[in-house]
Amino acid sequence: MKTSKIICGIMAAAMSAALFTGCSEKKTTLVMATNAEFPPYEYREGDSIVGIDAEIAKAIADDMGLELVIEDMAFDSIIAAVQSGKADIGVAGMTVDEDRLVSVNFSDPYTTAAQVVIIKEGSEIASPADLESKKVGVQLGTTGDIYVSDMQNVTVERYNKGFEAVQALLQDKIDAVVIDREPAKVFVSQNEGIKILDEEYTIEEYAIAVAKNNDELLADINASLAKLEESGKLQEIIDKYITAE
Ligand code: ARG
Repeated sequence: MKTSKIICGIMAAAMSAALFTGCSEKKTTLVMATNAEFPPYEYREGDSIVGIDAEIAKAIADDMGLELVIEDMAFDSIIAAVQSGKADIGVAGMTVDEDRLVSVNFSDPYTTAAQVVIIKEGSEIASPADLESKKVGVQLGTTGDIYVSDMQNVTVERYNKGFEAVQALLQDKIDAVVIDREPAKVFVSQNEGIKILDEEYTIEEYAIAVAKNNDELLADINASLAKLEESGKLQEIIDKYITAE
């Protein structure tokens, strides 16, 4: 009797301590899941991850009074990380897409983007329609992957990093790469002998992924995004990384 009373007392104390820390533990960080293989949106510079998305997320975190923490992972792990709560937000040049909306919510879009086709100079591919019966490289799990996989008669080669697809093109292992326009411009500028088709493959919009049940965070993110847009800060960040043609 006596021992069980003591045990009970200890348990009650432990439980209330747990409850107490549970209540007093205020969230101080905003954890962003990304895939830093996507210049100019997110890429590594030394030890840090920089780029448009990193700066937008930092500005949002500042506005919310939180400290931004960036978790770099495979692109196709980001949605699961957001769903499971491992990350609060997914910011990765992520296109708003019907299929993804089943798993996560998206903020208001923060930019318009496009999928484009990269080919070798002198290639016979002159428009996206010519990809038929060709070998096309994409980054695994991206909208490029989803759209090209839906095409009839196209062999899809999936790479973990967009740049690996570009390398395969340079080595003539594939005939074309379908990837987002701004990273495509960066990769083409770094390598001789490849170019971007004038005709886009698709036009799309990037937004921030938030867990389905997290409406409060979604509202906060949208409020911060709206402020960034109104103050001109959003455009300023974009202009820092993308020079108008
Ligand atoms: N916009 C494309 C998508 O949402 C590609 C994004 C890839 N982003 C990255 N950080 N690797 O699927």
